[in-house]
Amino acid sequence: MADLESFRLKIRQRYLQTEPEIVEELLSENTLNERERLRLQEDAAGVVKQLRKNEQPSLMESFLSEYGLSTPEGVGLMCLAEALLRVPDPETIDELIADKIEPSNWGVHLGQSSSSLVNASTWALLLTGRILDEDVNDDANTHPVMALRLLIKRLGEPLVRTAVSQAMKMLGTQFVLGEDMREALQEATVWEHKGYTYSYDMLGEAARTHEDAERYFEAYSSAIDIMKNASGNTIRERPGISIKLSALHPRYEFSKKAQVLNELLPRIIKLVNQAAAANIGLNIDAEEADRLDLSLDLIDALVQEAALDQWHGFGIVVQAYSRRALPVIDWLIELCRLRQRRIMVRLVKGAYWDAEIKQAQELGLANFPVYTRKSNTDLSYLVCAQRLLDHRALIYPQFATHNAHTVSAIHYLAGNDVNSYEFQRLHGMGESLHQHIMDKYNTHCRIYAPVGAHVDLLAYLVRRLLENGANSSFVNQIVNTDISPETVASCPITDILKTPDVEHPAIVKPLSLFLPERENSKGYRVNDPASVQPLLNERDQFISSTWEGYCLVAGSSAKQNERACLNPALSNEVIGKVFEASDDQIQQALEIAESTFQSWTVVPVNQRTNMLLLAADAYEANMAELCALACKEAGKHLADAISEVREAVDFLRYYASQARQNHTHTKGRGVIVCISPWNFPLAIFTGQIAAALATGNTVIAKPAPQTPLIAT
Ligand code: FAD
Ligand code: 2OP
Repeated sequence: MADLESFRLKIRQRYLQTEPEIVEELLSENTLNERERLRLQEDAAGVVKQLRKNEQPSLMESFLSEYGLSTPEGVGLMCLAEALLRVPDPETIDELIADKIEPSNWGVHLGQSSSSLVNASTWALLLTGRILDEDVNDDANTHPVMALRLLIKRLGEPLVRTAVSQAMKMLGTQFVLGEDMREALQEATVWEHKGYTYSYDMLGEAARTHEDAERYFEAYSSAIDIMKNASGNTIRERPGISIKLSALHPRYEFSKKAQVLNELLPRIIKLVNQAAAANIGLNIDAEEADRLDLSLDLIDALVQEAALDQWHGFGIVVQAYSRRALPVIDWLIELCRLRQRRIMVRLVKGAYWDAEIKQAQELGLANFPVYTRKSNTDLSYLVCAQRLLDHRALIYPQFATHNAHTVSAIHYLAGNDVNSYEFQRLHGMGESLHQHIMDKYNTHCRIYAPVGAHVDLLAYLVRRLLENGANSSFVNQIVNTDISPETVASCPITDILKTPDVEHPAIVKPLSLFLPERENSKGYRVNDPASVQPLLNERDQFISSTWEGYCLVAGSSAKQNERACLNPALSNEVIGKVFEASDDQIQQALEIAESTFQSWTVVPVNQRTNMLLLAADAYEANMAELCALACKEAGKHLADAISEVREAVDFLRYYASQARQNHTHTKGRGVIVCISPWNFPLAIFTGQIAAALATGNTVIAKPAPQTPLIAT
């Protein structure tokens, strides 16, 4: 449908917009005036005061407040939690524990928490650190006290290992309802009696193999089967299931789109039909940003299933931290309108923020896929919420948040009809806030409850620890009484209007990562069409190109010793010819290099480094052709080819900047000959030449066929 296509295009175009442009657009969509904003802030601050007065923070909340991610100890514990559950052997476990616990300064946390249990844990960590202290070994043979401590250390290690492993497991169970559905259903009755409903999440994601995917499929399917007997008449009253598409296929990625549509889609259709037959809701969780575009293709296909004629339990999750959130919602609304469907949309802020930022920097992307300020995400959440609430005839909105300001604002924006939407929270989080709101306004709340074994917990646990440990998050701030209720509940729109920089100045943009030293090399995300499609389009010009590699000595070439080059992946495809250098050419190159050495070495550093920078720019400008060549000649896949060219660009810029920094030492000392063997990687070859040129040496490069380059 042409109309839907234009909505999809708008989603992709967001990639090219800057954060200030998008935020300005969101501000113009905001419907809350200053008076309303002030009132909401006061309401939310009142809720914060109330929660702080009435409720004792849970052990987890107190723990993460004391050991948040802004302290080195918190980061150490986070690393421990992340790694410990998957380390198989005791020796490595001991080393990991010693590495993370022994060097930290636990003493500064002593007695700091309002929770006596957290203070007791601090003592335990302090003692563990002392027991594990490396210096204990030093004088053990000469000093009896040291010998005693060594003995304690040896005896203590298995004990420490068991205790720390147990503590990490306890941390995990805080967020998991049960190891299997039966246990989870039993546990769920406690909150169900208070009026809550559930969405069960079978732990497990990012399947690596088809066997993994099969196992996760079975887990979802049998959970739906168990739920068909649950109580309640409507989808809203009955429990539901949340599924992750990455769990259902090992190659759930844009570059495998055809395979995904052939193999993954039928699996989801089975689950959708099963959920419809059981009359329960099924939500598709939102995952990493580069899964978004492909997920929309799957959603488009799924809403056309006949099961959705009568059943309104098909649900999508939208992440407000994504720059694409609002156009995605507009697309969903249009989809429902055109296909005559009613679906559920769960609005979340997004759980992969840290990973998205890091990956965009690592890949040298043009833009981040997510906002860099939390207030921008909060604004996006409110604008998206308003859009959903305006289309309640087509969409049943589900607002998933643990933030008192967000909850108050949604309740206000939604008006009096509390049956036309629901709130949601994660198991183990936001209990008191949602209970408070439910009691006060009679709203509905569903709990997202992970079910599964510890082996599948890791990724989920890390996201929860990041969320709870970040000092910017609501759940972390509410237990930190040093922060006033007005600040905890401040209005994001007012904050944005007061703050001069729309983008967070401390979050370095991908291409500025190494500034002022040098520019980062430009990259692409092969699984996000918004990022990679322009490169793919350009690369198509070279699909049937052939290339020639030959020597260029002091500007002149001679072609002899011809050899055909074949594509290693398709051995009957000739991709070009190489003309090997002759002994005479090499001799000539050496002579020219020697004779030009004196004049070259006095070329000012800036002039030499400019040549390297120009070469880097030329590589980037010709990225599409170089990638086509690397794929055909060396059998690389696209992501590898991009990395190869980027590495070459980085080498050129790196040596240029090094030469500039150390310009007094860059007088060349001789002639460097780079003999590059057949199929030598472009990046390393370029690096050798760049290093040599930057230092003022004269370079002779015998070209590899894919790098027809010689410098004298
Ligand atoms: P707040 O403290 O108000 O917000 C924290 C959030 O703000 C962070 O998580 C992040 O998204 C954002 N943020 C933090 N710092 C910045 C910054 N510098 N710049 C921009 N944004 C920033 N998440 C998913 O990704 N996919 C899902 O399918 C999903 N399903 C969920 C289902 C339920 C029922 C619930 C409750 C949560 C779900 N989540 C999901 C997790 C959800 O994204 C987080 O719980 C949520 O972001 C926390 O927001 P908050 O309003 O509770 O807290
Ligand atoms: C996550 O898995 C809750 O879907 C969200 O982090």
